[in-house]
Amino acid sequence: MAEAQARQRGGYADDGSAQAESGVRFEVDGEIATITLDRPEKRNAMTFATWHGLARIGESLPEQVRVVVVKGEGPSFSAGIDLQMFTPEGVPGQGSMSSAVETGEAGFEQRIRRFQAGFLWLRRPEIVSIAAVRGHAIGAGFQLALACDLRIVAENVLFCMKEPALGLVPDLTGTKPLVELVGLAKAIDICLTARTVHADEAMRIGLAEKVVAGGDLDQAVHDKIAELLSTNRDAAVATKRLLQGAQARTLEEQSVAEAIEQVARLKALSG
Ligand code: ACO
Repeated sequence: MAEAQARQRGGYADDGSAQAESGVRFEVDGEIATITLDRPEKRNAMTFATWHGLARIGESLPEQVRVVVVKGEGPSFSAGIDLQMFTPEGVPGQGSMSSAVETGEAGFEQRIRRFQAGFLWLRRPEIVSIAAVRGHAIGAGFQLALACDLRIVAENVLFCMKEPALGLVPDLTGTKPLVELVGLAKAIDICLTARTVHADEAMRIGLAEKVVAGGDLDQAVHDKIAELLSTNRDAAVATKRLLQGAQARTLEEQSVAEAIEQVARLKALSG
């Protein structure tokens, strides 16, 4: 038991240099993995290496993990892309946005697809991902919170989709979950004004599952994890799969999908 509870570092995090470059910490404690954006002095601004780091964590996530928590060190969840990426010299060791664009349209599109992989895996049916968000979640930071299944936020949270204000589109997988959560009109309002969404509105429009005082954020996440781990693992995976497919199916198709999953469950339960 003590061994099972022992804090272990994920394979990715063992690579100290990659971890330092990406600004992401990764820890596994039994069925719970924690990803911490760890550049508080830069408000957890993200670089190409951050997105590669997130993708590598997804590729090597230990099978026993059921819940993944994504949080930020310091006062902000994340101030979004490191603005130094937009300078001609870029971020040391990583180049700049303009040097990346010079790889050609198809090449850069492929690169963006690889960055997106760092966000997409957080929706896998095998896990439930929780963004624990305090302070600013701007641009790429907002999209990382949107990549998670659930968002538990501190009352000082400030969501902002800044990209259109900078001449960009949100391209780190955030547009679909935003529309699904808040509806098209509200998503247009939030993105095309690049305005800030505070905690009360986030709660009201479905962006946040729960708002708590800043000092209670860790405990609130801990409580949610305990609730999530109290259900049967295989049933949870099958149910998430069903819920994720629901919008794309007709009621009839969804009913068939439920029946198929249930037969598999009953077979498993009867040994
Ligand atoms: N990129 C690089 N450095 C950043 C970023 C960023 N996105 N955000 C903050 N920093 C740095 C600041 O330059 C500062 O560094 P310094 O101490 O060396 O001067 C440090 O982090 C602290 O930032 P402050 O602005 O002093 O912190 P404050 O708490 O007052 O404000 C805030 C935080 C609101 C997040 C502000 O820093 C900000 O507006 N940052 C830029 C946000 C942004 O436009 N992001 C891009 C979004 S678009 C996208 O992600 C695709």
